[in-house]
Amino acid sequence: MQAVILVGGLGTRLRPITYDIPKALVPLRNEPFIGYMIDFLRAGGVDGVVLSMGYLPDPIQEYFAGREDLKDFPIHYAVEDHPLGTAGGIKNAERYLDGEPLVVVNGDVLTGTDLSQAVELHESSDSLATITLTSVEDPTGYGLVEIDHDMLVRRFLEKPAADEVTTNLVNAGIYVLDPEVLHLIPSGQEVSIEREIFPELQAQGTLRAHISSSYWRDIGTPRSYLAASHDVLSGAVGAANGTFEYLSVHPSLVRGKNSKILPPVSVAAGCEIGHSASIGGRTSLGRGCRVGEGAVVEGSVMLDGAEVEPGAVVRGSIIGPNARVGQNAIVRGLSVLGAGCAVGEGNVLDQGIRINPGVVVPPRSLSF
Ligand code: GTP
Repeated sequence: MQAVILVGGLGTRLRPITYDIPKALVPLRNEPFIGYMIDFLRAGGVDGVVLSMGYLPDPIQEYFAGREDLKDFPIHYAVEDHPLGTAGGIKNAERYLDGEPLVVVNGDVLTGTDLSQAVELHESSDSLATITLTSVEDPTGYGLVEIDHDMLVRRFLEKPAADEVTTNLVNAGIYVLDPEVLHLIPSGQEVSIEREIFPELQAQGTLRAHISSSYWRDIGTPRSYLAASHDVLSGAVGAANGTFEYLSVHPSLVRGKNSKILPPVSVAAGCEIGHSASIGGRTSLGRGCRVGEGAVVEGSVMLDGAEVEPGAVVRGSIIGPNARVGQNAIVRGLSVLGAGCAVGEGNVLDQGIRINPGVVVPPRSLSF
């Protein structure tokens, strides 16, 4: 079975990180996110994918070019020159599809769902599409889906206010579609599967729900990205076997005297941790990161080349590539530093965002 992975969005909610890195490549435990997606699809019986791309396609293709282990796994690239939306992106992948039922996934979903269950459910029904739903504690920021006793979708509610919430089941961004669904999508136009195609299928009574109670999270906001990073480090994703304390420290790490590494952590190649510095509480350090003498980094992600200078403290935050936290500065409360940003010596950044110097905001409606 083939899958289309939608990775063409601008990832605006995860800016400024996505100014430089497409959402599909933001690292979890120092592995680009799309790697987890490929594992999930292959475990569910998918034997080839089409990447539906638009924004920053080149680094994604370069990542796959370097994945020798996938050379026998067919991967096609359907690149848009202007945003086609979630349904338009599937239509644009059609030339690579085999005309059989297919899986479609949002390229920002981290899940332990058993995909083969959704596929079996779809094959045993006469519905044109099956949509996986998951329950979340606070559904207000999501697309809610009401279902009836026969598991048919009854109504969609896009990002409702708290007093409009009627269910906590949300669209998990995982679909099984019959090829006929592609006939409903016009070519070359921006079309949303959630807002245009699914309501049409729902009205025809041919959209079925598959409910998953497995781990599920999208990585589309700084909060959910950081939470996903914590979860992969503590083993919560495939929770069937319980959690574990992940510890991966590249042997090239240069460690100062009395420095502390408290697992679960992931440290990539070429990092340095100064005397008496400490990293822990589910932290990930990308390649070539530096943590100065006496500095503390907890519950955070430092991307490649980021630096925390002596005496600084970073808690629960995302430090972008080559960004710098100055001496004795404090960065906390889900702050995000874009690539190359700096927080000056002794400054405090709490729940703050620093945008990359000189960044050019990509246009939404013009060509990529
Ligand atoms: P935000 O701007 O933060 O909403 O992010 P997004 O648009 O990247 O993601 P969203 O959650 O809205 O979209 C769900 C999935 O569809 C993501 O994996 C996106 O990459 C993908 N996607 C969104 N728009 C397009 C598009 O125009 N073309 C393609 N091919 N994929 C898209």
